Amino acid sequence: KKARKAKKEFCLHDGPPYANGDPHVGHALNKILKDIRNRFEMLRGRQVHYIPGWDCHGLPIELKALGELGTSGLSPLQIRQKAREFAVGAIARQKAAFQRWGVMADWDKCYYTFDGAYEAAQLKVFQEMHSKGFIYQDYKPVFWSPSSRTALAEAELEYNPEHVSRAIYATFPLVTLPPDIASEEGLEGVSVLVWTTQPWTIPANQAVCYMPNREDNSQLLLVAAERTASLSALLGTELQIVATFTGSQLQGGVCKHPTIPEKQVPLLPANHVTMAKGTGLVHTAPAHGMDDYSVASHFKLSVECMVDEDGKFTEMAGPDLQDLAVMTEGTDKVISMLKACGALIKEEQCVHSYPYDWRTKQPVVIRPSKQWFINTESLKDKAKDALQKVRVLPESARGGLLAMLDKRTYWCISRQRSWGVPIPVFYHKETGDALINKYTMSHIAKLFKEKGSDCWWELPIETLLPPEVLKKVRKHLTDKISDDLDYLRGEDVLDIWFDSGASWAAVLEESDPRADAYVEGKDQIGGWFQSSLLTSVAVRKKAPYKSLVVHGFAVSEKGEKMSKSLGNVVDPDVVINGGKDSGTPAYGADVLRWWVAESNVFSEVQIGPNALNSARDSINKLRNTLKFLLGNLQGFDPRVQAVDAKEMYYIDQYMLHLLHEYSMKATDAYGEFDAGRVIRLLQAFITRDLSSFYFSVIKDRLYCEPEDSLGRRSCQTVLEELLDGVTRSIAPILPHLAEEVYLHAPGHEHETLFKSGWIKSVSVWRRPGLEEAMEGACAIRDSFLSTIPGKNAAQYDVTVVIEPSLLFELMESLQEEPSSTSSQLAELMMAARVNLTSEMPRDLPPDALLSHGTFLINLEGGVIREDSAYSIAVAPTSAARCPRCRRYTAQSADCLCPRCQTIEAVAE
Ligand SMILES: *[C@@H]1O[C@H](CO)[C@@H](O)[C@H](O)[C@H]1NC(C)=O
Ligand SMILES: [Zn+2]
Repeated sequence: KKARKAKKEFCLHDGPPYANGDPHVGHALNKILKDIRNRFEMLRGRQVHYIPGWDCHGLPIELKALGELGTSGLSPLQIRQKAREFAVGAIARQKAAFQRWGVMADWDKCYYTFDGAYEAAQLKVFQEMHSKGFIYQDYKPVFWSPSSRTALAEAELEYNPEHVSRAIYATFPLVTLPPDIASEEGLEGVSVLVWTTQPWTIPANQAVCYMPNREDNSQLLLVAAERTASLSALLGTELQIVATFTGSQLQGGVCKHPTIPEKQVPLLPANHVTMAKGTGLVHTAPAHGMDDYSVASHFKLSVECMVDEDGKFTEMAGPDLQDLAVMTEGTDKVISMLKACGALIKEEQCVHSYPYDWRTKQPVVIRPSKQWFINTESLKDKAKDALQKVRVLPESARGGLLAMLDKRTYWCISRQRSWGVPIPVFYHKETGDALINKYTMSHIAKLFKEKGSDCWWELPIETLLPPEVLKKVRKHLTDKISDDLDYLRGEDVLDIWFDSGASWAAVLEESDPRADAYVEGKDQIGGWFQSSLLTSVAVRKKAPYKSLVVHGFAVSEKGEKMSKSLGNVVDPDVVINGGKDSGTPAYGADVLRWWVAESNVFSEVQIGPNALNSARDSINKLRNTLKFLLGNLQGFDPRVQAVDAKEMYYIDQYMLHLLHEYSMKATDAYGEFDAGRVIRLLQAFITRDLSSFYFSVIKDRLYCEPEDSLGRRSCQTVLEELLDGVTRSIAPILPHLAEEVYLHAPGHEHETLFKSGWIKSVSVWRRPGLEEAMEGACAIRDSFLSTIPGKNAAQYDVTVVIEPSLLFELMESLQEEPSSTSSQLAELMMAARVNLTSEMPRDLPPDALLSHGTFLINLEGGVIREDSAYSIAVAPTSAARCPRCRRYTAQSADCLCPRCQTIEAVAE
């Protein structure tokens, strides 16, 4: 155990994708993003803990499983069997795709929320939360989806901002005037005016609420003073103010219900009354509103419900309404009833944001039912504290996480479905009392671990109860103990957000199960990030993650959400293997991965032909660079032929320095989940430092110097370092290309790149003064090249003039002689000849081009700063082109240059 601890671990906990449907580009974005980080950590020598998982239960799978058969007549076990088969199929397809994308994991050891061991761990979390009092049963309004016949949690809602409701203004005649205003003149026959967007809730009205301390006035209508202006406009009539009084004077008033004879409802104070819309007096139906419900609990009003699980009025609503669906015919009927009794003042269309079932895309209603809840209100502060210690990337996502915690005061965790983890509870046959305690829960957890949760339906109830509890609950007849039990097993299953929210307990099996990172799309801000936080905080007062990475969604190239109807869905499988038409070539997995890496994953991520083509072109460019490196390393054995950095040409040392800088920056960027920055660094390094600089400068040395010369070996040593560094730096993004290069690279010792470590860094590369010498020389080189735009530098002689100074000394380190065709300075300038002097020569050719510049030397962290001027004179060389090396260093066109003569002589 100790030895294991010694090796640093990196734990990225996989958020389980839903085992429903085919792999899509959103999966690709998420999985590849994670894989890039995992591979980076593995290269850095960390032990990577990454177990992919699937979220396997829940209504959408259940519906799909039922869909093939029609819904009726199946037992829970039959439904579960079908649902499981469906999930298993989806998992297999998704898993195969994740593997094709190059996602590294032990694919035989994944986690599945339908595994018995997982379910048992989840029940442990349930048990601990229950024993701490965070889980309770209650009868109260919840979001209810008639289309899926179940309660829904906030996280399962999708708000439709364009929902159209039939809003009404209706009157409630005041039958008992509030004592404080009973003496006012002209209040006979006054009615209270209310506004609602849900007319079907009028039958369930139990009160009209007002805001204490606000002014109200009335004529025939009682409305809030602040609302008179907008109401006049709306009703198209001038409202005359007859009397004005404050809200609290309304106390004691009683209204007659407009549609239900004999029913009277009180006027009551409430703090949720808003002056922003409506009449300032609020229709209150405790069964159908969260705020209404809190008024009802405070004033002990009835929360009776006259809407059934299908969203239809029950018998209790009376013969006119019974069996009508509340959102449609039920609403029509209520409105016509109001009209008939003269209570309808106005009807209008109201476009507002309304909750829909995110799976069926149908509107939900609020209705009360007996459900199990988590008291999130009491966890909120602890969760916020825990979140403070969590790093959030991007930091701007933190606000959303906090807002979600505030928004949710309770979390309804029971679902009236079959495909899930059963809530481990038994109910008394007559009283309905719940039987649930630590003995029953741990007994059931043990059974689930052994047999899976099917046993909840398979086993006789006697086996589901532990012996010590069983003894107590056997039916006690007058003189003997019967075998009959007073209890039934519960039929609800847990919300799947509770399933996945408990994954930290089931998957991270350390003594301190905390992941280094959770990485998911922004939709998980109110989903898995939150359910994981709440369960973990409830059980052990801390977050299950040290950092959260929140990425955006994949969208089309036009920035639109992908949808089948728009025809802009990008299938990752088509990206890799190609599609049917020529517009969809096979790009391969590396292009898909490059696209992910290159994107700004913290915002919306666009994908389409342009992004993919550009990714392919970028990879080709990189491939060419790697080919150049590999080609020039043919036959080079770094173990015996490498040159020590101290003996290298300055420019070679400088390249090592640049490589080092590049790798440090790339390392930082990977650590920030910013592979896009890695790619930008890589592209700058390859284009600016390698292709257009170093590779052109060293060509002569590489191709024309003797094979085993110090100069050639020196730059080969650097090419080998560059190949190694660049390959490692892109390996997390392009593992296939990197492995291929590694296989062909000289001197590798491991069978896979991923076991051979990260980019080496050697401190000797940071030689002081080296950078300044090279950068000074490069500044002079730029001046030279810009005086002969578009011309071949090799055809020119350059005279570099610097007054005696630090800069002169630095240039002398690159060229000791006053005049040279083969110095390091001459190589860097790529000129025929370089003369280095401290005085402008008098006998310059008449056609010489002059230019001047300055270079700021900054040494020892700014202690030595020197601004040095230099001049250069450029003239066409009088030398001829050497037929061997093609440099203009020969005396005549038919003889070799002196350097090449020596080489040829040795060769003979
Ligand atoms: C460079 O120096 C050499 C050797 O001193 C001399 O022959 C040549 O004329 C100089 N070239 C220029 C352009 O000044
Ligand atoms: Zn030559």
